[in-house]
Amino acid sequence: MEKRIRLIFAMTLTLLLTGNLVKADEGMWIPMLIGKNYDQMKKQGFKLTAEDLYNINKASIKDAIVSMGGGFCTAEVVSSHGLLFTNHHCGYESIAANSTPQNDILDNGFYAKSYAEEKPIPGLFVDFLVRIEDVTPQVTAALAGASDAERGTKLAQISKQLVDNSVKDTHYHAAISSFFKGNQYFLYVYEKYSDVRLVGAPPQSIGKFGGDTDNWEWPRHTGDFSIFRIYSGKDGQPAEYSADNVPLTPKKFLPISIKGVKNGDFAMVYGYPGRTDRFLTSNGVHLATEETNPIIVKLRDIRLRAWKEEMNKSTETRLKLSSKYAEIANYWKYYIGQTDQLKHLKIYEQKQGEEADFTKWAAGKPEYTGLMDAYKKAYADYEPYAIHRTYINEGLLAPGFVIMNLNLNGGIRALQQMKDNADAVASIKSQLGKIIDDYAGNYNETADKKIFAQIMASYYADVPAAQHPQFITDIVTNYKGSTPLESFTKYADYLWASSKTIRPADIKVLMDNPSIDAIANDPAFVYAQNVNPQAYSRKVFGTKITDFEAEKARLDHLYQKALLEKNADKLMYPDANSTMRISYGNVQDYIKDGKKAPITTNLNEVVKKYKPKDDEFDLPQSLLDAYKAKTFGQYGENGTVPVCFITNNDITGGNSGSPVINANGELIGLAFDGNWEAMSGDIAFDKKYKRTICVDVRYVLWCIDVLGHGNNLISELDIHKN
Ligand code: ARG
Repeated sequence: MEKRIRLIFAMTLTLLLTGNLVKADEGMWIPMLIGKNYDQMKKQGFKLTAEDLYNINKASIKDAIVSMGGGFCTAEVVSSHGLLFTNHHCGYESIAANSTPQNDILDNGFYAKSYAEEKPIPGLFVDFLVRIEDVTPQVTAALAGASDAERGTKLAQISKQLVDNSVKDTHYHAAISSFFKGNQYFLYVYEKYSDVRLVGAPPQSIGKFGGDTDNWEWPRHTGDFSIFRIYSGKDGQPAEYSADNVPLTPKKFLPISIKGVKNGDFAMVYGYPGRTDRFLTSNGVHLATEETNPIIVKLRDIRLRAWKEEMNKSTETRLKLSSKYAEIANYWKYYIGQTDQLKHLKIYEQKQGEEADFTKWAAGKPEYTGLMDAYKKAYADYEPYAIHRTYINEGLLAPGFVIMNLNLNGGIRALQQMKDNADAVASIKSQLGKIIDDYAGNYNETADKKIFAQIMASYYADVPAAQHPQFITDIVTNYKGSTPLESFTKYADYLWASSKTIRPADIKVLMDNPSIDAIANDPAFVYAQNVNPQAYSRKVFGTKITDFEAEKARLDHLYQKALLEKNADKLMYPDANSTMRISYGNVQDYIKDGKKAPITTNLNEVVKKYKPKDDEFDLPQSLLDAYKAKTFGQYGENGTVPVCFITNNDITGGNSGSPVINANGELIGLAFDGNWEAMSGDIAFDKKYKRTICVDVRYVLWCIDVLGHGNNLISELDIHKN
């Protein structure tokens, strides 16, 4: 799942269910309520009890699953010493950050031979879910009678009260999440561990095999796994990093089955899906396909091309930029696929049909009549600004120095305000230090300058001239060139030549003696304040955007309330919202391009795709040797090693790294991707096409054991052969 832009300090950046399904492949279910699905799960082959999945009085499978870093990925505990499996692309940033041309673990792979070799990852943490509580009655009571304008404040008040109460006298933290657009509220209590260390990863030629070409595609041949470990204090409690910490003794860890998978087997994915928008109306689909998605793709393309050019110049630059590159490339391709498949699968038409049905049902129900017309009007008012708005996050805020300068503003002001509070000062300094380090880690002068100028030229062409704020018109007037691109290039030259808040080294000097006065007139600092998203939006959009947001929130709330009513006799699941969910279904093939797609892939096919020295399809010698010698250990099947398989589970970004669990509660794979034919899945689940792509745990273990000689790690695992 894509990580959010890191903007802290005082600024905030801002199908429906067919119910009684024969098979519930669709659906991201709330673990606490999974009992309601239990009969159906059993019918599909599940052998354990609902309490084995979620129980707050004794260890259950939920206790073996963590969300990583606040939700960007999922990981699972696989040993009694806190060992974690997740995806390679989830560990990518940690792996790249520990790589240098001299010790290049990203390219060569790495398996720690002892605890001492495990690499601390500052800033990385995991959360265990302690319990869920339904707090709908309390929240609804607190919101009763509130106007739309008051809702936000009232919700914050009651949430704080409930959260404070629930974690009083504990080291837990909690949050309230809204479901069905404010029609239900659940409280989640978590336990956070912040000493998490990198234990191992295959060479990226295995972990990212197929690169962007194969990304979001099936059949797939990627060994998308990496290994971490949770550490605790000597008392087993969460503790900040210390050399004295010890591997966590978890409440629960997953056993591993190497028996293999076949079509129709029960399969379940348990993890943290980030966000879906399954109730988006046809208006929203239209806006995405016709206006905003193509802009996102175009702007990401600018960044990717500029970075790639530099990455091709040296290993050092490649290692430095590869994590950011992969993150942006992943969703670049996502938006291409989403747009294509929304059109191809006629999701707009499908939604229109559902909306027409809804309108019929709503006739004579005063609360809901006119709902679809109201949506139509809200979108019509908003549409003239939609492209411009997309340009804020994906364009104006995309050059690294902009967010850096916004954080400098917030951070330095916070330091000044808190100057008498030593603890606060230390904490702000450390956060700001981390932001500067991250920025430095992705900084590349040539690429950054080019990206800035090209994005702005694109902005100038795509955003209606009447909406251009004065400071942008001024740039083009004052830095005259024969094209807007030339003007913005000249302006970029000026910024880089005269600013002290762009180059990481300059910023570090500034931080020796941080003062807003010292940078108040710095051109990059001034520019960034001009594009501060809140101030910018207020200035150029007035209340257009906030009005749309408020109206859409009101309509969404009503629409979902109505759908809950309409489907009262059926099981409904809420959109993903970064809370823990269970998706259950089966290992299942599908028809791709008129032919049956395989349900599994294998090592022979990996080797068939091998292209020596290629960016995407190279392979390590160890793999080629083991393949030739047929050293498959206990992981082989039919004279090869299984690599990936597919299920019909319902997942999205954030689920990456989630355990794929069989009927007996054993780990059989790690979920890591979706397939091209169903890229519209976050907006509409397509039963025929939507599949979850999983790396077979036997490939993971083969890579660790046979290629990586990580016997120490293998011996920690509870491997079931039958
Ligand atoms: N599409 C995958 C996901 O979003 C990420 C795959 C990472 N690999 C890559 N080639 N970028 O979970």
